[in-house]
Amino acid sequence: MEKKTFYITTPIYYPSGNAHIGHSYCTVASDAIARYKRMQGLDVMFLTGTDEHGLKIEQKAEAEGVTPKEYVDKIVLNFKNLWKLLNISNDRFIRTTDEYHVKGIQKIFRELYDRGEIYKGKYEGWYCTPCESFWTETQLKDGKCPDCGREVKWAEEEAYFFRLSKYGDRLLKLYEEHPEFIQPESRKNEMINFIKQGLGDLCVSRTSFTWGVPVDFDPKHVVYVWIDALPNYITALGYGSSDLSDYNKYWPADVHFVGKEIVRFHTIIWPAILMALDLPLPKQVYGHGWLLFGDGTKMSKSKGNVVDPYVLCQRYGVDAIRYFLLREIPFGSDGLFTNEALINRINSDLANDLGNLVSRTTAMVQKYFGGVIPEEKEADPLDQELIQMACSLKEKCDKAIDGYQFSTALSEIWKLVSRSNKYIDETMPWALGKDETKRARLAAVMYNLCESLRIVSILLAPFMPDTSPRIQAQLGLSPEECTYASSASWGVLSAQAVISKGETLFPRIDVDKEIEALNALIPNPAAQGKAASKEEPKKEGEKPQGLAMIGIDDFAKVELRVAKVVHCEPVKRAKKLLKLTLDDGSGTPRTVASGIAKWYAPEDLIGHSVIVVANLKPAMLCGVESQGMILAADVGEDARVIFADNIPAGSKIR
Ligand code: MSP
Repeated sequence: MEKKTFYITTPIYYPSGNAHIGHSYCTVASDAIARYKRMQGLDVMFLTGTDEHGLKIEQKAEAEGVTPKEYVDKIVLNFKNLWKLLNISNDRFIRTTDEYHVKGIQKIFRELYDRGEIYKGKYEGWYCTPCESFWTETQLKDGKCPDCGREVKWAEEEAYFFRLSKYGDRLLKLYEEHPEFIQPESRKNEMINFIKQGLGDLCVSRTSFTWGVPVDFDPKHVVYVWIDALPNYITALGYGSSDLSDYNKYWPADVHFVGKEIVRFHTIIWPAILMALDLPLPKQVYGHGWLLFGDGTKMSKSKGNVVDPYVLCQRYGVDAIRYFLLREIPFGSDGLFTNEALINRINSDLANDLGNLVSRTTAMVQKYFGGVIPEEKEADPLDQELIQMACSLKEKCDKAIDGYQFSTALSEIWKLVSRSNKYIDETMPWALGKDETKRARLAAVMYNLCESLRIVSILLAPFMPDTSPRIQAQLGLSPEECTYASSASWGVLSAQAVISKGETLFPRIDVDKEIEALNALIPNPAAQGKAASKEEPKKEGEKPQGLAMIGIDDFAKVELRVAKVVHCEPVKRAKKLLKLTLDDGSGTPRTVASGIAKWYAPEDLIGHSVIVVANLKPAMLCGVESQGMILAADVGEDARVIFADNIPAGSKIR
């Protein structure tokens, strides 16, 4: 009999900067589901990938002086490496620059055009020529371009439109007939209200940039974002190619996991495109919440916390990070990410509860029985509660996973871990060990603890794929003793199993020391409102030179960094200014306007490294948003920029 299939996807991420912990959140969650479903015997297709086209990427590449493809290739590698590190078991990785996807999109676009679902019209709006961007009236800032502050003009551009407006009623009917389509429930009303306000047609092509999929029958147009991105879920299965076997097998998707900010695209535009193509709709879109950082923003960068997934995995191990992401925040809700919460979870749940249970149990079997539990065992009514709890764990996990409630599944597993630790206290093996006549009872206690851990290790595997086999190795389990089905049965562990004490699974972390070490990793903790060192006492008689004396913590408020000048140009409206584009090591180009045009030509600066005050409040200078200031010395009438050519971009200056 053919296996039942299960198709799960993550959003395809923008490779405009490196993969961060927010991307990891959705990918780890999808991975846990893919692994769980495989464990249940389903034929799983798990897809992730990158969404590589668009103006933003084109501009970033230009600022770095590389082609868009070169730019994305480097970042895509970073995503792929992080997924490898995080043990992500995706079956496919789609890039929207892959040739099969480009061909698939062209075919879909043409098909929609042929069906009259896409038509040619005019795109109108306020246009900023230097930024090559259209803005709506409400997006303008004081009537000017919100990005660069320059004048905008009313402009029209030829563009293709998708007839989204005609799908409102069908979408409302879809939500009504399939209440499970948008999850969690709470996100549904927002979508209904949005549709009820009236859907407009959707602009699906642009002529103002070229980094995209060309419309093959009208090549001055490139396909515009969502209609390039959303169909990745079917082009990855071969839709649009001659081989439709995977498409026929896996489509429609069982679930699209997406962040809450893109639920609208997935529950309005995506089903409408599929309706227009007469294709089946995905069964469910699950909008998860955001990881928020320190100050409550959905930031991809550190706000007083170390959030670099590479650093976190290196310090605490991959499974600890996976566990934290899945356990801490109920899927669907927002939650705060702090290093302190992470460390506390590792200490309490992983080191104290699970780690301790494994090490105590294996050490006792070694100590009392040399690693092999005797066959003769004496049961006690006290065992029943533990056994019942263990045997019903599978059902509870299944239920939680059916509703994508990772946190609930893990908390059920931890209930058994805690119950097992309590069982040790109740049965007092150390007392039994002293009495030769209690040997059979001690054997039963040890066996029950190992059985309970066996069940824990099986159901934990999708969430913590490294830890689970390590526990199983310590318990001397064979693959047959680790099957999913056997996690609902008691008495599976064989009498011959050789139990050994392995390395500590999760060493305890000293919270204070660790937070201190982490703060030292944050580029300028003082600037982020954290851990500023105490003010140095002023020495008597010390004379301030020029300005008043400041303490070290005042100085620490200034974030100085080395940055490389990747681009530089005069500012038309201001003779004194040069506009510099800097690589400050963050991955996002930084623009700085500097009043040094009198002393430097752009070519004197390009390729050199300078020092930038990186946490200066951005300011508009003659239409340029200046995000910092570069350091220069006054030498007589001259200004001399301080070069730091021998120091890598991004280095912090203290
Ligand atoms: N390219 C589009 C998606 C197209 S899907 C057809 C996009 N890309 S993105 O790079 O911005 O990734 C967005 C997704 O990353 C979110 O929907 C979410 O799944 C994940 N996250 C990014 N930052 C996040 C947090 N701070 N917290 C949780 N998830 C976050 O949108």
